Amino acid sequence: MQILELKKEFDNDWQTISDSQDLEKLRIKYLGKKGKIAQAFTELKKLSLSEKKQIGPELNELKKEIEKNIDKFSKNISQKEELSNLYQSLPGKKPEMGHLHVTTQAIREIIEVFKPLGFNRVRYPEVDWDFFAFESLNMPREHAARDEWETFFIQGLEDKKMGKAVITPHTSSGQVREMLKGKLPIRMLNIGRCGRRQIDINHIPSFYQFEGLVIDKGINITHLKGLLDYFAKNFYGPERKTRIRPFHFRFTEPSFEVDINCDLCLGKGCRFCKSGWVELGGAGMVHPNVLKFGKIDPEKYTGFAFGWGIERTYMMKSGTKINDIRHLFSNDFRFLEQF
Ligand code: DAH
Repeated sequence: MQILELKKEFDNDWQTISDSQDLEKLRIKYLGKKGKIAQAFTELKKLSLSEKKQIGPELNELKKEIEKNIDKFSKNISQKEELSNLYQSLPGKKPEMGHLHVTTQAIREIIEVFKPLGFNRVRYPEVDWDFFAFESLNMPREHAARDEWETFFIQGLEDKKMGKAVITPHTSSGQVREMLKGKLPIRMLNIGRCGRRQIDINHIPSFYQFEGLVIDKGINITHLKGLLDYFAKNFYGPERKTRIRPFHFRFTEPSFEVDINCDLCLGKGCRFCKSGWVELGGAGMVHPNVLKFGKIDPEKYTGFAFGWGIERTYMMKSGTKINDIRHLFSNDFRFLEQF
């Protein structure tokens, strides 16, 4: 009986094992009831006493070795298989998905509200001439009314006719540009980035505004009022109220300030709104001088305009609960991911 041959055969088979099924086959082949080792013991009985004495211990040794190997490998393999099953059933790690910034979402929502009424979204320069930002809006150079706009001027960029270059402090700078296109009637929605030297919970130096301008024959205040109501209903929901206060702007006559009841306290008064009402922005009937700058005859055409901050407008929406406009620009994911 060749113990050495049996050992070699086992060694060869051992190389081919890759999983627990292979291992089980191997176990049966060598250690099974009718396996190679059992057969060898049967044969051993037929041998002479001296042969038995020599081969017996060798066979026992081989049996133990095979048992030890199979046992060790089986523990190893089952651990590995368990682990790999575990990994397969774990939910995958999802890649982080970005989404549109809350200001962009607000811009898109506002566009959707005005679209059905035929408003056309336009954009005008973020850096524009004094003429469009002020002069053509009935605010002559050196006029004190301009102070309110806390304007950033672009150093070294000036034109004799157009004046200095400024970072547009409001989207009203698009009004006369739109009129000068020469197409009437006008239903403009100008949305753009503006800049002013102001910072507190309600103001940031770089913000967005949207400006509505309607010019046609026979336009009057009732059209403006109707539009404000339409916007409040469609953007904020039926429970929010607006009110109009007389105000003064150089480019509208009459002029109004449009307020909406505060979303945080719903009219009681809080740190954010103080009086229960928050200012959305300005509105009014386009001043005849502005129409003239836009080469439109004020005897034939009239119009209204309104201009509001996008961020402010969005902050007053139900459920947003944004109590500091600066959060919108803080780039803090804990804040931004909520929208
Ligand atoms: N441009 C003004 C501002 O930024 C807001 C404004 C007031 C716009 C009256 C208008 C308007 O169109 O009619 O404060």
